[in-house]
Amino acid sequence: MDVLGIDIGGSGIKAAPVDVTTGAFSAPRVKVATPRPALPDPIAEAVKGLVDGYGWTGPTGIAFPGVVIGGVTYTAANLDPAWIGLDARALFAKATGLTVSLLNDADAAGTAEMKFGAAAGQDGTVLLLTFGTGIGSALFTDGVLVPNTEFGHIEIHGKDAEERASERARELHDLSWGKWAGRVDDYLTHLEALVSPSLFIIGGGISRKSDKFLPLLTGVRAKIVPAALHNDAGIVGAAMAAAAT
Ligand code: BGC
Repeated sequence: MDVLGIDIGGSGIKAAPVDVTTGAFSAPRVKVATPRPALPDPIAEAVKGLVDGYGWTGPTGIAFPGVVIGGVTYTAANLDPAWIGLDARALFAKATGLTVSLLNDADAAGTAEMKFGAAAGQDGTVLLLTFGTGIGSALFTDGVLVPNTEFGHIEIHGKDAEERASERARELHDLSWGKWAGRVDDYLTHLEALVSPSLFIIGGGISRKSDKFLPLLTGVRAKIVPAALHNDAGIVGAAMAAAAT
């Protein structure tokens, strides 16, 4: 069964039809820039453009970079505050004319990694972290997701963790791999003290460059692996969520 997966990020919106039985794309991925300011209506229009580009009329799942409960978006750290408290699922349904599912982007990525990727079949506590414009988190215990954990916003040395250790922070402050990895190590150490995962998965685009920083992450007891689906995990997980409803 094919489902359209769409992943809304702080810099780009990506989409692809996904065969949810294998996790593979059934057509090439398309990416457009996230409209700025990142207001609801222009983003809904961009989503509609992606849906129309595939001539899509079937089930559709959307991953969103904020807390999502019952289709309502409650935070939007890297988008416009107009999303806060909005029935975003209804907005996307109206814009596209389709029934859509909506969930947090890191939760989507984690769902895909648990089924098809780096944590397939993994029991115990698994924590996936995505490093991009922000830091997203997805916490699993024996394969079951605890949604909307938002560990990118724990405070470390008086600052929001994602301000210090996201991929954007690395680029913005022109941090060396060593310096950035030091910040990530510090962050993982805090998280290990809080939830003691047996496995950390490092997701987001940065997961393709894991040779540059994984050997530098030495502070935690848990195993650390890169996401197997890299930056496509959000699209796959969004599609899986729609297939499950
Ligand atoms: C948001 C999270 C999101 C993460 C990655 C954070 O700023 O609060 O909900 O998962 O960025 O996009």
